[in-house]
Amino acid sequence: MISLGIEGTAHTLGVGIVSEECVLSNVTDSYCSDGGIHPREAADHHANVIGSVMGKSLSEAGIKKDEVDLISFSMGPGLGPCLRIVASAARSLSINLNVPIIGVNHCVAHVEIGRFTTRAKDPVTLYVSGGNTQILAYAEGKYRVFGETLDVGIGNMQDTFGRELGIGFPCGKQIDDLSSKGRNYLQLPYTIKGMDFSFSGLLTESIKKLKTNSQEDVTFSLMETAYSLVVEASERAMSHTEKNELLLTGGVASSKRLKEMCSTMCVERDATLFVPPPPLCRDNGAMIAYQGLLEYSNGKRMEIEDTIIKQKWRTDEVEVNWV
Ligand code: FE2
Repeated sequence: MISLGIEGTAHTLGVGIVSEECVLSNVTDSYCSDGGIHPREAADHHANVIGSVMGKSLSEAGIKKDEVDLISFSMGPGLGPCLRIVASAARSLSINLNVPIIGVNHCVAHVEIGRFTTRAKDPVTLYVSGGNTQILAYAEGKYRVFGETLDVGIGNMQDTFGRELGIGFPCGKQIDDLSSKGRNYLQLPYTIKGMDFSFSGLLTESIKKLKTNSQEDVTFSLMETAYSLVVEASERAMSHTEKNELLLTGGVASSKRLKEMCSTMCVERDATLFVPPPPLCRDNGAMIAYQGLLEYSNGKRMEIEDTIIKQKWRTDEVEVNWV
């Protein structure tokens, strides 16, 4: 079965094609700006590039449109205008090609493409991206949220801090480079409540510290603190659930320092760390295609009228019958 998936919850428009065996193609095009994401501009970007991204994805996979058996799309959570563009494109493709449609949860798709490509069996997942920062694990029919940010996602925090430094969006790579040059750790707020954590106080204090300290030292201190928070909460979730695998995914998973900290924690616990290849960690269409295929193969069916976007769709609202 060939599944074509369309991702577009935030700044990335992606089209991926998968079969039961492997990822056949995964093409993305991201909206960039100097001032964070403007939802309507991001949606315009998605509408402008979706045709060419789809064409590239089909040719990379060596598939003709009429060989596609299933259309899958990111139904939520995400930015309303972006989700509506993707949903409209998915519905029209499904009707035109006369193939079934499945709308999937973006966060669950991150976990499942991670399990599919790394062969992790039953991991605690640390999902770190711009809009989302969650610690997820399977328990009794759902991916439960064991911990999450109480305010902004770790990537959004990085981007806001990056703007203070005059770095364009998205700025994860440059923040990581700057952070690696810091030498002095400055005391910053460390806010963790059980397995939930918060970044806004940390961000505000870091911006204040820029007045009297080097950019390198403040960035280093900010990122060390933020990564420590999520790694501590992940370890607590692993201990609580008695799981011995950690899956690190999301756009921020490309951080070398975060991988290093997760790896140290896993070694100390005698656990295994799994990190999918970067194009499958970031927002992408292949994960949506795979999630649709997984749900369709396990009996899920949707009518066009069921494909209404869900901007605030929580991970633990999805009934999981495929694990
Ligand atoms: Fe994501």
